[in-house]
Amino acid sequence: MARKASTRNSMPRFLAIANQKGGVGKTTTAVNLATALCATGKSVLLVDLDPQGNASTGLGVRRSAIRSSAYDLLFEDTPPEDIAKQTKVPGLKVIPSSMHLSGAEIELVNSPRREYKLRDRLRRAMPYDYVILDCPPSLSLLTLNAFVAVDSVVVPLQCEFYALEGLTQLTKTIERVRQHFNSDLSLQGVVLTMYDKRNNLSHMVEDDVREHFGDKVYKTVIPRNVRLSEAPSYGLPAIVYDMHCPGAKAYIKLASEVIKREKTLTGAA
Ligand SMILES: Nc1ncnc2c1ncn2[C@@H]1O[C@H](COP(=O)(O)OP(=O)(O)OP(=O)(O)O)[C@@H](O)[C@H]1O
Ligand SMILES: [Mg+2]
Repeated sequence: MARKASTRNSMPRFLAIANQKGGVGKTTTAVNLATALCATGKSVLLVDLDPQGNASTGLGVRRSAIRSSAYDLLFEDTPPEDIAKQTKVPGLKVIPSSMHLSGAEIELVNSPRREYKLRDRLRRAMPYDYVILDCPPSLSLLTLNAFVAVDSVVVPLQCEFYALEGLTQLTKTIERVRQHFNSDLSLQGVVLTMYDKRNNLSHMVEDDVREHFGDKVYKTVIPRNVRLSEAPSYGLPAIVYDMHCPGAKAYIKLASEVIKREKTLTGAA
């Protein structure tokens, strides 16, 4: 498929994948949504903002091969293009994370314009349609920097008993960032992950979340699918590892919803 934006610099759309809860499917969503967007002909830069580096390894970037990372973007002023590495997915590049990022919190605290650091470095015309940020499981300064830098936030929500816990804090943080730092920020949507249709709890959580967030919740739900959890150990997105598995198909559907919502948000629909 033609990749029209890859040769020209234009302002990409910036999305953060965030939830301060651990293990809810942020990285799986970031990697597979990015890949699904590429499958529709878009070009994407994924920025791994989590010191754990799961998005980087899940895309086949070996820790030993990382020369520069999101840390250098934040603190060394290295341009994103000099850090971005090509992945095995055509159209998808990644700015990997490194262990140095685990010290970023402390370094950010005393930085000038500390909330704007990432925005100042990352928001520029680039040869991508989308820049996707995989956030760490906290509402730390790194996540705050992501919210200040992006246009919208996608929140993965695991279908479990405590799913809604912490969401008020998350939506309040987004609201606070909108008021003080980034008036254009919006909650793009909430995506239910690890959905098990045979399990009553999944249905109950879905009902609750849809009642609470209305049409902010994507129609597409991501099923619990072992292929999604196997793929990273091969350094591949599930969509490449097994494009016919239910998880891959769901992320392809989610990508078309995300594109549609972005068009509405930019007034291009
Ligand atoms: N839909 C799914 N079906 C089955 N397993 C999944 C699914 N989504 C994610 N997983 C698995 O659950 C675990 C947590 O997922 P993931 O790493 O994407 O979450 P996370 O929110 O990024 O975690 P962290 O907060 O640690 O960054 C991983 O082992 C992943 O492979
Ligand atoms: Mg993660």
